[in-house]
Amino acid sequence: PQDDGAIAEIISAHAHLEGPLLPMLHALQEEFGVIPEVAHAPLCKALTITRAELKGVISFYHDFREKPAGKHVLKICRAEACQSMGGTALAERLLAKLGLDWHGSTPDGKLTVEPVYCLGLCACAPAAMVDDRLIARADEVRVEKALSAKNI
Ligand code: FES
Repeated sequence: PQDDGAIAEIISAHAHLEGPLLPMLHALQEEFGVIPEVAHAPLCKALTITRAELKGVISFYHDFREKPAGKHVLKICRAEACQSMGGTALAERLLAKLGLDWHGSTPDGKLTVEPVYCLGLCACAPAAMVDDRLIARADEVRVEKALSAKNI
């Protein structure tokens, strides 16, 4: 449910800020779980930006989503410490296995895969997370175990 009143409220609550777009987007996503399509027009109007500019910002920041997430979320750390410990290859293998791309969801809506930039587990890299469960020294076995615990 995305009501126009709440969208207008979020926009006006942040309009006084310098560089208000990102705080607005974060607040919208917090409220709705996505950046609702119906918020595009009021955002563009409030900030005098074009739809293309807005789309560019939304797609540039990995945190923002336009489609609802799957029931469960697998986050794989893509920040430096994890990358240097094989995180990139691990992510590639997991994505290939799931048949997904970053931000993609399985057709049954059970799982979405998101990149994350540091989970605070750099010392035990690579790191991943299934819902709120952190996985240190992540490898395929550990991640798959965490997924199967959620029946995925
Ligand atoms: Fe991956 Fe910090 S860089 S947990």
